[in-house]
Amino acid sequence: MLNASKRSGSGLTAHTLRQAQGDGALLRITRIWILIVLLAAPFLGASAQDISLAKGWKFKIGDSTTWSAVKYNDQDWKAADVSIPWEEQGYPNTDGFGWYRLHTTIPSSLKEKAYLKDSLHFDLGYLDDGGEVFLNGKLVYKNYKNGGDIKSGLYGPGSFSLSVHNPAILWDKENVIAVRLFDTGGAGGIYGDKFRLHMVDLMDNVAFNTDGDFIYSGPNSLSKSVKIKASGGTYDFTGKLNFKVIDPETNTVIYEKTNNANFSAHSPFTYTFTIGSLQKRSYDLTYTFTDNRSGKQITKTEGTPYILTPYVKAEPRINGPDVFGERPGNPFLYKIPATGQTPLVYKADGLPAGLKLDAATGIITGMVINKGDYLVTFTVSNTLGSNHKKFSIKIGDVIGLTPALGWNSWNAWGLTVNDKKVRISANAMSDKLSAHGWNYINIDDGWEAANRNANGEIVPNEKFPDMKGLTDYVHSLGLRMGIYSSPGPKTCGGYLGSWQHEDQDAKTYADWGIDYLKYDWCSYSQVTSQNPTLDDFKKPYQVMRASLDKVHRDILFSFCQYGMGDVWNWGTAVGGNSWRTTGDIEDTWKSLSSIGFSQDKTALGAQPGHFNDPDMLVVGKVGWGDSQHNTRLTPDEQYTHISLWSLLSAPLLIGCDMGHLDAFTLNLLTNDEVLAIDQDALGREARQIIEKDGYQVWTKELEDGGKAVGIFNTSEQYQTIKINKTEAGLGEYTRVRDVWQQKYLIASGPELIAKVPPHGVILVKLSK
Ligand code: GLA
Repeated sequence: MLNASKRSGSGLTAHTLRQAQGDGALLRITRIWILIVLLAAPFLGASAQDISLAKGWKFKIGDSTTWSAVKYNDQDWKAADVSIPWEEQGYPNTDGFGWYRLHTTIPSSLKEKAYLKDSLHFDLGYLDDGGEVFLNGKLVYKNYKNGGDIKSGLYGPGSFSLSVHNPAILWDKENVIAVRLFDTGGAGGIYGDKFRLHMVDLMDNVAFNTDGDFIYSGPNSLSKSVKIKASGGTYDFTGKLNFKVIDPETNTVIYEKTNNANFSAHSPFTYTFTIGSLQKRSYDLTYTFTDNRSGKQITKTEGTPYILTPYVKAEPRINGPDVFGERPGNPFLYKIPATGQTPLVYKADGLPAGLKLDAATGIITGMVINKGDYLVTFTVSNTLGSNHKKFSIKIGDVIGLTPALGWNSWNAWGLTVNDKKVRISANAMSDKLSAHGWNYINIDDGWEAANRNANGEIVPNEKFPDMKGLTDYVHSLGLRMGIYSSPGPKTCGGYLGSWQHEDQDAKTYADWGIDYLKYDWCSYSQVTSQNPTLDDFKKPYQVMRASLDKVHRDILFSFCQYGMGDVWNWGTAVGGNSWRTTGDIEDTWKSLSSIGFSQDKTALGAQPGHFNDPDMLVVGKVGWGDSQHNTRLTPDEQYTHISLWSLLSAPLLIGCDMGHLDAFTLNLLTNDEVLAIDQDALGREARQIIEKDGYQVWTKELEDGGKAVGIFNTSEQYQTIKINKTEAGLGEYTRVRDVWQQKYLIASGPELIAKVPPHGVILVKLSK
């Protein structure tokens, strides 16, 4: 199912390019660290001994009961790289069964060195999708329920523990680990970063919970509470908690404090701090607990957030794209995105016949019969003044003229999405985001009932008691509603797909008022050829395209087939408004950077109405299920995420719990100048113009003749990046605007010079 898939704000600085105004002097402010520590430390603990299982694996496509046996001769199997799925190592589009085998010695010294001596823990990356693990021929782990079979196994970590007395373990001898997999679509195999073996240790049960929000307790100060707790066991931890603030530019410890800390499975320990005198950049915080008795230690690190987006002004401002398209004779819905002190009064001059505007909400509804380009002037006023914007309504054949801006339930809620969560998201979007142009509320997998009704129509499950009512509610807020299905018999989550019911489903969606369909390949592999040709890849999307064309509603069509057959070359011709170019994203730098920085190959596929989709956003609180955690991306990685996706003209689909949008996440999602780069009417996608060891530069042509430029530091250290403007083809541009900070910079001389934090970005707009 799952498929083939630090830090900013320094601003452009230095001799040829200085900040025209503001706080460029990064190191000037005296650091007065105010630490209110409400609640420390020798570093004696030896970390648990690991045996790496990352190398030496062998792989074979197919399935046989003999492949788990110790004596089976796997010499002719192919060497496998378990850091990547099998698709990426010579088995493109391979679904179905495959096996991996590894021979490894398990030394009994592991037990001797361990503090706890009960269990042995295996980490075998992720199993995609269904998986069974055999140790010396005995089944020791499976990722599906008893009574099910491997085909019902769900993608997830291949992590499990065995008692040291388990007879399957051959201590001090060669052991054979054999993994049987069944992949239902997209990427397959065992893959990931964590392939190891170690004794379950005292600290394996212990975790810092840093998911609380940072609170802005003053203009330059942050407060936070973190917790440390054991998830089980009876051990009482008594020790020291050491807290450090580190400047990642110089790697110096700016503040350090150690306190006593005691906790157990029943009573967590909470540490609350306030740090002050912060500049606009991220700092590293480390929390380290050392247990007195065992000397064992656990550490967690996170970056501090910092806000670059200026506060919204009280004067009215119209945001959002410059253009919007709908087909003639289909229902029209557009809410004019505008910020400013409320109440705002909306006006639109030049609306085509058939449309009406609600002056109090800014929502335009109706239907236009005649094709045409209608140039409209929007005016939004409040007691402080008025703002005007020229806007083009294009009634024609193409919709989705700019990339979709919205929310999708998957990265937040996974299969646990329900009516209530969708309403919470719609309300949050309406209250906090729609003024900046956000407008889609998309339900991903998990809404479908187990069976169709007597007429063969798809029906929602008990989590969605009234899909039409929910859609009407979303529309009443001026927002649009999206849904999810698969061309196969089943979706990736095992719910009903649209196979052989395409016309019926398109009609049902239209009856409900759906505006967006994500159509996910998944089990379609089971009903198409084993080695799909280009025509096979196109077929299911052509079929649903024809069905959508039969309904009198504009439903944005979003292909999800992970880039197979280089979809960016034919997505437009098959009638897609967007198409996923990769497997599923995760909230890690590895996932984000490998997806984001590999999109240059897709660039020519983008044009108004048709965009590449490098998958949804992983900012805010994510979790793919009922429990949520703060994204594991650092603040600078998150700036990179939004900047790069905007340069790529990607659909921006927020994937977080919208009921808990913290100040930093809102800052990322409400920067109108950044969003304008994504929404630029020219519809071009950025190209990578420089790729050096530690940095990359991507540039995107804009409708007004300007260029958006992202300077990305892909290294682990702060870097001052110098770009020769002439060599980069940017010589004719003289004005430079820092888009996140919305400030012009003084840029004279032949170079663009940017100090960029690790994994961070400086995003600028150049004009002549
Ligand atoms: C696939 C898709 C995801 C999500 C899930 C739902 O993995 O790529 O985006 O839609 O299916 O099951």
